[in-house]
Amino acid sequence: MAIRKVGVVGLGLMGSGIAQVCAQAGLPTLAREVDQALVDKGLGRIKKFLDDGVAKGKVEAAVRDTTLKNLTGTTKVEDLADCDLVIEAIVENLDAKHALFASLDKVSKPDTIYASNTSSLSVTEMAAGTQRPGRFVGLHFFNPVPLMKLVEVVSTIVTEPAVLTEVKSFAAAIGKTPVSTGDTTGFVVNRLLVPYLLDAIRMLEGGVATREDIDNAMKLGCGYPMGPLTLLDFVGLDTTYYIANIMFDEFKEPNFAPPPLLKRMVLAGHHGRKSGRGFYDYSQKS
Ligand code: CAA
Ligand code: NAD
Repeated sequence: MAIRKVGVVGLGLMGSGIAQVCAQAGLPTLAREVDQALVDKGLGRIKKFLDDGVAKGKVEAAVRDTTLKNLTGTTKVEDLADCDLVIEAIVENLDAKHALFASLDKVSKPDTIYASNTSSLSVTEMAAGTQRPGRFVGLHFFNPVPLMKLVEVVSTIVTEPAVLTEVKSFAAAIGKTPVSTGDTTGFVVNRLLVPYLLDAIRMLEGGVATREDIDNAMKLGCGYPMGPLTLLDFVGLDTTYYIANIMFDEFKEPNFAPPPLLKRMVLAGHHGRKSGRGFYDYSQKS
């Protein structure tokens, strides 16, 4: 089976990037959000990224135009019925993901492959809630999706080998480098990255250094492109908080526990760049 049409569910930070790279690779791509305003916002984010790419000389105008032609938005799950692959990128919450896959399962073709972009939830648990556990994988993309080369391809003990082969070819076809991992919480990258990010918050909380000094130390001392507090704002503090809770619940190790400051910032609506405020203030920036 070849993947000819892709469905993406959720057009937030990640879903919009995933939909963009699929459409940019020439695949008709249908993206579902919960309401029309969010469909428009997600498609607008993609258009802006492509327009910026054209302005920077990184994307040809013709590529931008074809990408946008390959993209359609919808609010209806039923419209995804004829997609060969559906990639889920909604909120990091197991109940929400279960509910979505249950509704998809009623309309999808029997051979449609489901993929979750989850950062930390169990792919096996999501797969087991569907009628097609053998045709379910994790496809964990990285933010910002159009620029980050990696995709973690997560298989479970029931994933059909042919499905795994198919999704790895798909990952390569959309310009990503696949790395295979088993279904362990956080896979490879977040198992290493999340404790580091949470420790940076603990360091700020404990008064070890200022936010700027923590960020500069890691940028200038280790050559990281962003300091950890800037990266947290970029990923989203709400999403990081959900991930930390899930990872702590799984491993019961203190380095995965969300620091109180993170919890309070999320409660206060400081979700990072996307809400205009996180560890830094983005309210004046475009
Ligand atoms: N279209 C096309 N290309 C673009 C572009 C656009 N709209 N915007 C930027 N680019 C290109 C630039 O031209 C540049 O290309 P060259 O290297 O060839 O010159 C490149 O992308 C980098 O762009 P910038 O120079 O504008 O920006 P930067 O150097 O500040 O890099 C960044 C931005 C790539 C985001 C970099 O800061 C970075 O890598 N940050 C770390 C990101 C990271 O760690 N992501 C993972 C998060 S964790 C995760 O995702 C998992 C999870 O589950 C939470
Ligand atoms: P986000 O909050 O930016 O976007 C989530 C979007 O999903 C929202 O726009 C919301 O309206 C939409 N949504 C919720 N329920 C929906 C449904 N039933 N149908 C359609 N749309 C629905 O979140 P995000 O940062 O894009 O994260 C999405 C997923 O990707 C999460 O599982 C997260 O763990 C994972 N992830 C995030 C990052 C990151 O850096 N933010 C990186 C890799 C993976």
